[in-house]
Formats: sequence, structure tokens, C-alpha cells
Amino acid sequence: MSIVYDKENQVFHLQAGDTSYVMGVVRGYLTHLYWGKRLNRYGASRRIIWKDRGFAPNPDDLDRAFSLDTLPQEYPQTGNGDYRNCAYGMLDEQGGRISNLIYQGYEILHGKEPLSGLPASFGNDDEVDTLKIHMLDELSGLKVELWYHAFHNQSVIARSVRFVNTGEENLTLTKMLSMSVDIREAGFDVLTLYGAHNNERNMDRRRITSGTVQIESLRGTSSPQQAPFMALLRPETTEDFGEVYAANFVYSGNFIAAAQTDAFENTRFQMGMNPWNGQWLLEPGQEFHTPEVVMVYTSEGLNEMSKIFHNFYQDHLIRSQYTKKIRPILINNWEATYFDFTEEKILEIADKAAQVGIELFVLDDGWFGKRDDTTSSLGDWIEDRRKLPDGLKGLEEKIHEKGLQFGLWLEPEMISENSDLYRRHPDYVLHTPGRPYTYGRGQLVLDLSREDVCDYVIESISKVLESAQIDYVKWDMNRHLTDVGSGFYPAARQGEITHRYVLGLYRILETLTNKYPDILFESCSSGGGRFDPGMLYYMPQTWCSDNTDAVCRLKIQYATSLTYPPITIGAHVSGCPNQQTGRETSLSTRGFAAMSANMGYELDLTKCSEEELEQIKQQVDFYKEIRETIQFGTFYRTKNPFEGNLAQWNFVSKDGKDVVGFYFEILSRPAAPIQLMKFKGLERDGYYKDLNTGKIYGGDELMYSGISIPIHKQDFRSECYHFRKVNENSF
Ligand code: DGJ
Repeated sequence: MSIVYDKENQVFHLQAGDTSYVMGVVRGYLTHLYWGKRLNRYGASRRIIWKDRGFAPNPDDLDRAFSLDTLPQEYPQTGNGDYRNCAYGMLDEQGGRISNLIYQGYEILHGKEPLSGLPASFGNDDEVDTLKIHMLDELSGLKVELWYHAFHNQSVIARSVRFVNTGEENLTLTKMLSMSVDIREAGFDVLTLYGAHNNERNMDRRRITSGTVQIESLRGTSSPQQAPFMALLRPETTEDFGEVYAANFVYSGNFIAAAQTDAFENTRFQMGMNPWNGQWLLEPGQEFHTPEVVMVYTSEGLNEMSKIFHNFYQDHLIRSQYTKKIRPILINNWEATYFDFTEEKILEIADKAAQVGIELFVLDDGWFGKRDDTTSSLGDWIEDRRKLPDGLKGLEEKIHEKGLQFGLWLEPEMISENSDLYRRHPDYVLHTPGRPYTYGRGQLVLDLSREDVCDYVIESISKVLESAQIDYVKWDMNRHLTDVGSGFYPAARQGEITHRYVLGLYRILETLTNKYPDILFESCSSGGGRFDPGMLYYMPQTWCSDNTDAVCRLKIQYATSLTYPPITIGAHVSGCPNQQTGRETSLSTRGFAAMSANMGYELDLTKCSEEELEQIKQQVDFYKEIRETIQFGTFYRTKNPFEGNLAQWNFVSKDGKDVVGFYFEILSRPAAPIQLMKFKGLERDGYYKDLNTGKIYGGDELMYSGISIPIHKQDFRSECYHFRKVNENSF
């Protein structure tokens, strides 16, 4: 059992992998005592030192040292003494906003039950234990259960919260975070990932000295602007060393993540649903469950944090049957043709794709309705016979005859004003009745807060998926929510629509991914705009960015790998000049950037010369040789492209026998220094053969001495090293 309860002192000690998490009940309040490196036993070393602080209000007039404002708490309330950021808020029928959660009891269970209607991590009785702490606000009857899941072999604790209205009046939840931890230290750096369309996930590391650092999304999705991730790092923490407290939200809608340093140098670390437009009415007897936060602690730096996230998501979150399967190398026609294609053109590209060994053809946007641009047809999921004279089925059969699998683009959450669906069901649009529409990419969003609209999506998409043999689906979402409201719900529930949208989406995904388990789903939102653990739960890979420029991808993929394993990161070799940046990079650099993740192609192969096709064939063959190591091995970042002119990383296969390293030098420099490529994760006393040169090096040599990289007068250059482990007497 990884959860120990010390009855005498009312202390809970959770142990997960190399981490411990300790809480205690103090005067009826659940207090946070410790989160950090694993302890064998907690012996009350961190007892609370009581101190009368100025302006710190007291529940008990006779005890000026006891204040909620200074108590390290696990799920803080507001209005009765704690002026820091609260974890939840509640409104009663009288307009009262005060509550007082008092500890009632606990349950400790083996295993982990699913969260109804929400994606969440999973594990069996031998892998995870659950602690539920019960708290009650007696006056209103609001019952709050804090759920903690300690995974035995991974340094992960997952958290969520269940609210139940056990009272007799309506209550409205005005804030309901999933995680709040009062770390009794300060001086952290806060790491977050920010960006934009075509420029997802830049790394932002800033010191928090006082006040709150908060990131959020109000876009209805997790968003490319801010990722639902935050980590607190010690100032000295690097890739390989130092403490990291990280949280990632298993949710695809609006969120906040915040770190607040108080006057006495404590840091409150929080994550959950965004309270703006994120309310929930609880009638007597009703309940609400928050999405889950995955919390990772390590004392060994960011690379170790990533390793923990990668293993955890592969073993305990992504539930597709493809999670542990080698992924096909695909070609997508988007950058090759955009909307302007014929069946003939598609088949010509597919011919070349088959010739170079590509395994899956993906037909992107423009195959349905009368969609020649972004102004029409979303919702009309019927093939356009002008482009596909033999229909989807006809094309699919021809693609399969070439020995390729067939994949299809869909954007099921959307509706075009110019569509038959809109003409039949204008009421299906997500909007506030009476207000004008706000458009995004010329399209509107379906009201997935409505059950009948979700049923319609399930039905219409099922029809498409059954109309031909479809092996893969790219599930796109190209705009964010606006005009949020729904004529379907009463005024008191309008604040719920954004979350109801996400719940509707999850129901659709739950149904379709269960109904069609053999389809490989890839999530997309104009690239990596909704790259989050919630979507990964249903879809085992995500198109990482619409920016296919190899140089930009170095940063985007580097930062994406902080939380998500390379196998989940869709990366394509595209044509030159690059369509997002105009940059010319060599085919080999474009190849090595894409091979560093889940590789595919996205260019017009019919326009490639014979030499280029030959080179692509070699890339495809090489990726097939190394992809088990890339997709299931351990990933080590060795040089950070956000910090200079270089990017380097290497992969080590699960059995430790295969090693692939990539080196990228962005700009060529005069008087260039000689660079070294130092590997990580090798066996110090092992020997490794360079498969290109036949030379054998010790693991220690590759890791500590490093390989000298010859100087080339060339921008955007790259190298790849492939080693195989050999025994000592092979040389
Ligand atoms: C955005 C995606 O990210 C692109 O790859 C492409 O599928 C377009 N949408 C199609 O509209």
C-alpha cells in the first residue's frame, strides 16, 4: 500500500515512485505538510510553528496564532481569513460566498476508478492506490472529496475533486480547481509554455518573488497561446539536476495555472478549470467532478521530469490500442494541394508515396460538400463527386490497392454558415441567443453542450467512417469558442456551457474511439493548438504544429517533449521553400527534424526530382530501422535550441542496445567553435559501434568526452549518429 495513515497524529503519507506527499488534519483543516523526495516515514519534522502575524485573521478570538491566512492548506476557501488565491468558490441562494470546509474522514482504496465523462489516468490495483478525503461545509451542505492517486512505480500523484450538494438549497460553484498545494518554500522559477498558431510552446522561465504568476486559457480549448502546464523549479535546476514540481492538466478547455508567493515565503501552486465562464449549478443531491491534474516531482531536473511524464502517459493515460504499436509513416496532401485537388492528382501522389515506402495516405481538407476554400461545407460530410468521381470508397480502394493505408481529415466540431447542415439546423450553432455571430476562419462552432447535437455528430461521423475502409482520422479544430451561450439551457446554467462543450466533445470521442478501435486517431487544432493530455487520452498522436519549417520545429518539438513523448508528436517533412517561413533547408535536415518524433511527409512528391525521391526513400527506410527506438525508447535532450545556435538530442532503445542521436546547427558561423555531441543514457561501461563508420566507442566516452562535430560552411545543417551496442570483444 502506497498510502499510510497515522491515526494518532491524523497524518496521511502518500508514496509514489521516488516522491512523498504528506498532509495532516490540524484543528479540522486539511493542511499540506510535504511534497518532495520520497521519505521512508514522516515523523512530524515539518510541524507547524504557530505565530501571531499582523493582519492574519483568527477563527478563534482567544488564539491569535491560528489563522487560515498562514496555514498551509490543501484546498483553501475564501472569505474567512485566507487572503491568498482560493481553490474553490461557492455561492448560496442568499448570495453568500463564504464556506468553511472541515475534515470529516477518509477512504483508502486499491486501484483507481474512472472519472465519469472525463479523460483521466488509469491503473490497476497493483499499480495505484487512491485516497479520498471527505470535507464538509456544514451550513450549506457542500461536501467536497479530494481524490489523490499515488502510482507505485512512477513519481506521479494525480488529483481531482468531487463536489456534492448534500444540503437543501441550490449552490453554485464559482471556482473549482483540481489542485492546490501550499509549498512551504519560495524563490522558485516558474516554467510555462506559451505561443501562437505556427509558433506553439515556447519556454518561459521567470522567477517569482512575490504575488501571483498565472497563465490561462479563455478560448474554450487548452490553446496554443498557453499550454495547460506549469512547473516550479529551483533557480539552480537544469535539464539534469535540481528539483521540479510539475503539473499538467488532463483537460481540453479553459484552465488556469498559478503560483503565488505569500508574505511569509510560502508558494501556493494551483491548477484547474478557469473560473471565468466556468460555473456550475448544484441542485440538492447533484454532484460535480473536476478534471484531473497529473503532478510530477523529481529532484533530477527537467529531463527526468519528461521521462516520468512520457512513461506515465504511455502506461497510464493514452488508452488507444496503438499506444504501444509502431506508427505508420504517413503522407498528407494538405501542403501539396490545399483545397485544389482531383482524384487523379491524389493518386499520382499516392503512387510516388508507395514507391518510396510510405505506409499511409491521408486525404486532408476539401474532399466533402463543395469545399474549395474555408467559406463553406463544414458539417456536410458527404464526398464531393467533382473531386472524387468514384466517391470516398472508390478512392480508398485505389489507395489500398497501392499497398497504402487510407486516412481522412475531419473537423466534426464545426459548421459553416454556407452548408446544408446550417440550412437545416441553424440552431445547432454555439451562440448567445439574440447576439450576432463572431466568425473564426469563416466558420462557426457546433453547440456540443447539447446532447442532440453531439448525437448528430456521432451519427454523421459514424456514417463517414463506415462508408469506406478508413484506417486513420485526423480530427481537426480550427477556431476557438466565441459567443458562448446556448438557448438550450436556463439562465442559471449559462456559465456551464464552456465546460459542457468539452464534456460533449469527450462523449463524442469516447463513443467514436470505442466504436472504431482499429482507427488510428490523430488530434489537431490548426497544428498543436489543443495538444493536451485530455485529447491524448482518446487520440494517441497530435499534429504538433502547422509550422513545418525544420528550424522552427526544433524549438516547438523540444518544448513539446517536456511533457509529451516523441511518439505522440506528429512531425512532417514538407517542401521548400517552406510555406510558413519561406526558408530553404536541406532535405536531410528536414528529415532529421521529423525523424526526431513521429515522422510523416507533407509535400507534392510528383514535383520531386528522381534524386529527391531516392533520398526520401532512404529516409523512409532509415526511419523504419530506427523508429522503434524513437517511438518507444527514452528521449534525452542534450542542447536546448532556446538557448543558442544548437539543438541536440538522443534516443536510447528500451533494451539499451540501440542509440540514435541528432545534431542541428542553425546558423553557420565564421570562426566557428568545434562543437561536441555528448550523449546521455548510455551504459558507462558498455561499447557502442557507430553504424556509419564502424568505429567503436565506450559509453563513458560518448557521454563524457563527446564526439567532435566537423565544421561545415552551411546554415541549418544536421547530423545523425546511429550506434548499436556491442560486446567488448567485438574489436
Ligand atoms: C489545419 C491543420 O493543422 C492543417 O494541417 C490542415 O489540416 C488544415 N487545418 C485544413 O483545413
